[in-house]
Amino acid sequence: METKVLKLESPTYQEVIEKGAMIIKNGGLVAFPTETVYGLGANGLDQEAVCKIYEAKGRPSDNPMILHISSREMLKKLVRDIPKAAEDCMDMFWPGPLTMIFFKKDIIPEKVCAGLDTVAIRMPSDSFARNLIEGSGVPIAAPSANTSGRPSPTKASHVLEDMAGKIDLIVDGGPTEVGIESTVLDMTVNPPMLLRPGGVTLEDLKALLGEVDVDPALLGGKPKEVLHPKSPGQKYKHYAPKAECLLFAGNLKNVAKEVDKRIKENPNKKIAVLATEETLDLYREKPYLMINMGSREHLQEIAHNIFNALRECDEAEVDLIYVEGFSFQGMGQGIMNRLLKACGGKVVLGL
Ligand code: TXA
Ligand code: MG
Repeated sequence: METKVLKLESPTYQEVIEKGAMIIKNGGLVAFPTETVYGLGANGLDQEAVCKIYEAKGRPSDNPMILHISSREMLKKLVRDIPKAAEDCMDMFWPGPLTMIFFKKDIIPEKVCAGLDTVAIRMPSDSFARNLIEGSGVPIAAPSANTSGRPSPTKASHVLEDMAGKIDLIVDGGPTEVGIESTVLDMTVNPPMLLRPGGVTLEDLKALLGEVDVDPALLGGKPKEVLHPKSPGQKYKHYAPKAECLLFAGNLKNVAKEVDKRIKENPNKKIAVLATEETLDLYREKPYLMINMGSREHLQEIAHNIFNALRECDEAEVDLIYVEGFSFQGMGQGIMNRLLKACGGKVVLGL
């Protein structure tokens, strides 16, 4: 299959929407930008089309997908019950990077939800994404548009790396804004439970809802809980770059010292260091690749850059990645969740 790439303005914005919508209606696959990461979309009411997504990504079939909608009318057709807390979240955070879990109606094919009785739904704020959904006239099932296990794509070139020859169309809308995926909040329990930290912070949710539980698997619960998390996607080693990755947590000067020491001890290894604006000058050794993820004062900027940084390490074919840790406050929680997965949980603590 030849994978077409269209920039948003070529031939014209409207034509790109029409082409994309036509492919979705005909049961094909379209990768498109959202404000978080690129999604790999198919008609969410067409079981066969949804199966093509699992195939293109190499995604385990027990990992359910998010349905993307463009209006609240669409939501009513898909879910059995909309709790008051969900209405409040919609008023505050939709359209935007918040996914909510509801009890599903039978109209949704089983494969979308991997056999669960619930469905994940999100209304993206990216206007192209919403226009594509509107033009298709159906909810669009879309996981992140990466090969399963690789870092999520934040640029069209990332999608092309993973999906060339496997899907019909990639719409290039430039780099995505948020850079990490949406927050996933389970509204089928009371209080609502955070299943994946993301573009909307836990602090923001608590300010609106009062009480919000956190999936124990997210808090690095006991191994048993990690093996059986509520959100199936959380159990897989995600976002993993090809090289071995190690996270360093603690006092930043000590982090730099420890990393310097390890660079010195491994002169034959190609080492990448993922540092920050504030720490760049603390390093004395020069690694093979030094990436500045952005300023610690602007965690949004770090989130925007992390997946791209991990893919750059892959491109440079480094052997080892040393990455600095962050606090779990605000966006830090989502950033650390992605970094810990990239490292497969390997952390050097107490520096
Ligand atoms: O920002 C995003 O959410 C991006 C863009 C494209 O919208 N999408 C995305 O999709 O990250 P994906 O498939 O990579 O992640 C969806 C997450 C997975 O962890 C999955 O297990 C969880 O949502 N999920 C989906 N349906 C669920 C359900 N019914 N119950 C619990 N978790 C669910
Ligand atoms: Mg994903």
